[in-house]
Amino acid sequence: MEKPTNRRQSLWIFGYGSLIWKPDFEFTSSKVGFVTGYSRKFWQGDTFHRGSPQMPGRVVTLQEDYTECTWGVAYEVCGDQIESTLQYLNVREAVLGGYTTKLVKFYPQEEGEEGEILALVYIATPQNPGYLGPATEEDIAAQIIVSSGCAGHNIEYLLRLADFMHNYCPDAEDKHLFTIEESLLTILPCLCSANDPVSVLC
Ligand code: SIN
Repeated sequence: MEKPTNRRQSLWIFGYGSLIWKPDFEFTSSKVGFVTGYSRKFWQGDTFHRGSPQMPGRVVTLQEDYTECTWGVAYEVCGDQIESTLQYLNVREAVLGGYTTKLVKFYPQEEGEEGEILALVYIATPQNPGYLGPATEEDIAAQIIVSSGCAGHNIEYLLRLADFMHNYCPDAEDKHLFTIEESLLTILPCLCSANDPVSVLC
């Protein structure tokens, strides 16, 4: 009798925030694409990675909105990679971040609606204690400017996300993200004149 094996099992994980540029787990393949029915919002407070208990940063979550879609990167983890990845992400996203998991339909950029993939996503809901909820884009930018945590400055988080959108999906809309980016670059004129604002922070 053949021994049961999980070698061919695979799990897709969709990242729309820090998981885009810093997955920090082993994966077999990755695809840029989008999920529908959600918009990305800087509505989750962060007292660990990008802020402190005294000055919580703002990081992204997904808000249900049937008219919108959110772009990001989906990672395929296979076999033995699955358990260790889920353990790692449970600490990073759930325990330290306040996120819970959900399954969503992910559409790879190249294949569009044809290539639908079921993916796990980490979402921060209003029920978690770190949730901050809506604020004006100007207020969010002002909060991001003064916050930093163990993973780095909150400005870096915002600019890396905006850079991903500009570089990998230049035609995609993300009004909330781009308005915050614009606000921040207006408040910080010295960053506006730099060619690569992200590198200024690293
Ligand atoms: C994600 O990246 O998918 C979740 C939000 C974050 O960790 O920034």
